[in-house]
Amino acid sequence: MAKGYFVTGTDTGVGKTTVSCALLRSLGAQGRKVVGMKPVVAGSEHGRWQDVEQLTAASNVNAPHEWINPYAFDPPVSPHIAAQQAGVEIDLTVIRQAYQHLCNLADVIIVEGAGGFLVPIGPQQTGADLACALNLPVILVVGMRLGCLNHALLTAQAIHSTGLPLAGWVANCIDPEMLALQENRVTLEQRLDCPLLGTVPFGGKIDEERAMHYLDKLVSTI
Ligand SMILES: Nc1ncnc2c1ncn2[C@@H]1O[C@H](COP(=O)(O)OP(=O)(O)O)[C@@H](O)[C@H]1O
Ligand SMILES: [Mg+2]
Repeated sequence: MAKGYFVTGTDTGVGKTTVSCALLRSLGAQGRKVVGMKPVVAGSEHGRWQDVEQLTAASNVNAPHEWINPYAFDPPVSPHIAAQQAGVEIDLTVIRQAYQHLCNLADVIIVEGAGGFLVPIGPQQTGADLACALNLPVILVVGMRLGCLNHALLTAQAIHSTGLPLAGWVANCIDPEMLALQENRVTLEQRLDCPLLGTVPFGGKIDEERAMHYLDKLVSTI
């Protein structure tokens, strides 16, 4: 039976795609059939959506685009605003069906949320409803920078309130000049009620070997 994870983050731009791709590549290198899914994306560059392209490049299973990315919008704004401007309603049933199709193709499906966990995706719905519709354990990527403690604790609280399991968190070092990085990481280890699955240092491209090293606890649990 296919396994899925929902990757959320403390904000937009904190490393959800980076960590998702690293996971896909690590698991792929172990011989698993893997596919990344980005149910909702907003913000295109010349008709291309970077997150979708990166996740697809890190996957080793070919799947129809509409299953990998059912909803794509051009403006780089919140999905509920982009959808409203496009006259589109984001339908969680469509997303769930697309996910189920992917389950027939792959062993592991890594689903990347849009923005942070409670980003609105419709008049009433948020990213949390999307995670609930797919009923997946959640991985929280914490962008390690000033302010991340509050964002991480709030996000964990929001995840807990859905009843979905919080599989763990990843410390992604996006600020090379962050002060007291280690103390911040320890604070989150003490206060987040879930395991630290890996620490990704600040750096460029994360290849399979490095990802395996940084995310080994996560990779070994999947
Ligand atoms: N550990 C890291 N070290 C250096 N740059 C990083 C790291 N993680 C992410 N980045 C960069 O930060 C930006 C945002 O990362 P991304 O994975 O796209 O975030 P998200 O998916 O949460 O929006 C990208 O340019 C990415 O290359
Ligand atoms: Mg992303």
